Amino acid sequence: MGFLEWGTNPWAQNVPIHIAWFLIWVAVIAGLLFLIVHATYIRYFARAREFAGDVPPQVSARLPKHVPRHSLAARLFHWIMAASMFTLLFTAFLPKVGIRFPWVTYHWIAGAVLTVSIVFHVIHASFWLDFWPIWPDQTDLEDAGKRVRRFVGMSAPPPRKFAKYPLENKLFHGVIILSGLAVIVTGVFMMFRVRTVFFPRNPYLFGDMTWGLMYVLHGLAGVGLIALIMMHVYFGLRPEKRAITKSMIFGGMDRDFYLQEHDPQRWVVETSSSSSTSKRAEGRGLTDAG
Ligand code: HEM
Repeated sequence: MGFLEWGTNPWAQNVPIHIAWFLIWVAVIAGLLFLIVHATYIRYFARAREFAGDVPPQVSARLPKHVPRHSLAARLFHWIMAASMFTLLFTAFLPKVGIRFPWVTYHWIAGAVLTVSIVFHVIHASFWLDFWPIWPDQTDLEDAGKRVRRFVGMSAPPPRKFAKYPLENKLFHGVIILSGLAVIVTGVFMMFRVRTVFFPRNPYLFGDMTWGLMYVLHGLAGVGLIALIMMHVYFGLRPEKRAITKSMIFGGMDRDFYLQEHDPQRWVVETSSSSSTSKRAEGRGLTDAG
């Protein structure tokens, strides 16, 4: 059983055509296994979380009741990207599992929407939002060490509360960047193989082997995204993460949730009394949600 499907070109060379489609089921089962193992662990085995450091009452008293988290533009981007991502997954994989329809046009249109939305996101995040909170920092790595040691029963002090994004979210974002870039770059070239409104069709742009490898990379990143999106939706629906999901709809989260999970020194929020932090929050586009 091979992971790729091969064909023979007019010069009798063996070239890869695309991934073997059973990998769709491998991704679905891997995603489901992750959900089952995680849900079982949280339900029956996980201990209550402990964090180091209490927030001084004068700091919490200054916080707004509704802590802004995502600007309107950031939320619109998220939901446009989500809609295009689901359209891409369904149009790509339903025909492969027997549900036939003319999928290619819907697929490249959704691909173009995803590409434009990602270009917007990169520019928006680099110049209007704060670029750094989504990347792992020194404290994340130290705390990850502490969390692993406590998980395996070794003694370690409790980790600090999270900055704006927990390490897991930052790592997920990193993996999505890699798989998203892979489908986008290969997808844009693959548009030369079909008829679109963007450029004339040119199936001779690359040789058979290069095209084959491109389809393989597109397919591998695509099936990877099945499992990744399943995990993402699962976490979004989990009761303890609901405040975060709501913030992606309404823009902010309750002060109580913020204080329970986040460290006000690591994620500085606009308060009535601090004009310097207010400037920083504006820089992150946080002011329209409060
Ligand atoms: C979640 C993201 C995506 C997934 C899961 C996905 C998956 C797939 C799959 C499985 C195929 C069939 C390839 C084959 O037969 O080997 C395909 C074809 C295609 N994809 Fe995507 N894709 C995604 C994103 C994109 C993007 C962003 C673009 C464009 C920018 C794009 C453009 C295309 C085109 C033009 C084809 C048709 C190629 C042909 O029929 O010759 N895809 N995609």
